[in-house]
Amino acid sequence: MTIPHGDLLYEGKAKRIYAGAEDKQVLVEFKNDATAFNAQKKAQLDDKGRLNCRISACLFEVLEREGIPTHYCGIAAETWMVVQRVEVIPVEVVLRNIATGSLCRETPIAQGTPLEPALLDLYFKDDSLGDPLLTDARLALLGVVSSEMRERIELLARNVNAVLIPFFREIGLQLVDFKLELGINAAGELLVADEISPDTCRLWDLSCLDAEERILDKDRFRKDLGGVIEAYGEVCKRVQGACPTPRNCS
Ligand SMILES: Nc1ncnc2c1ncn2[C@@H]1O[C@H](COP(=O)(O)OP(=O)(O)OP(=O)(O)O)[C@@H](O)[C@H]1O
Ligand SMILES: [Mg+2]
Repeated sequence: MTIPHGDLLYEGKAKRIYAGAEDKQVLVEFKNDATAFNAQKKAQLDDKGRLNCRISACLFEVLEREGIPTHYCGIAAETWMVVQRVEVIPVEVVLRNIATGSLCRETPIAQGTPLEPALLDLYFKDDSLGDPLLTDARLALLGVVSSEMRERIELLARNVNAVLIPFFREIGLQLVDFKLELGINAAGELLVADEISPDTCRLWDLSCLDAEERILDKDRFRKDLGGVIEAYGEVCKRVQGACPTPRNCS
């Protein structure tokens, strides 16, 4: 199903962004494309767009209830979300509660080490450069984010983590780590933008001890574990319990 929309503004790996009915809004279409390793690995996964749209909508509503500002306005159709148009800050904010993935490849920190407080890293959002890790000095040198904004980004991201950890725990999921994109809207407010889904979070099933079976996120695709859509479906089923009917905004 497609819905009325304006011009295509941007086509990314996982979503298309269209002009919305109002200048302040854009429409996000969630695609079934799955990519990993900076798009070197690609596949089409039936139903991924719908599941990520639904999961993201629920998680944005959970954040909103806790007073965390997000770009989310509502759902327009199964794979379509209406959001506030923002200027995306060209930085990917990664929060890690448990060490895994690139942190363990790049440092001697052992897989599964709990990280308290959560480790927050910023990466420069540029696929052609491979999204490199930014030090504070490099951030200042690039001039993309002021030191004051750097503080606000960190506070917002840690608040998101503080809401999502217990939310996921309640539904039997461990929030291992996640990536956020933040943006600034027309009123100058800093908001959580983009998506929050198993494409952008690592989620482990707390009731399962097997190191591979417990994975319910994009690592199933990265590592060729199979059952990717089934895992996303399980996350959706559990997340929806907290938000059975996401706001309609068509
Ligand atoms: N509210 C918003 N307003 C404007 N742009 C947005 C908003 N939310 C997300 N975006 C941008 O839309 C794009 C979403 O597409 P997608 O996630 O498919 O991109 P991508 O291929 O992952 O590339 P990128 O590395 O830019 O995220 C991203 O560039 C994201 O920063
Ligand atoms: Mg993206």
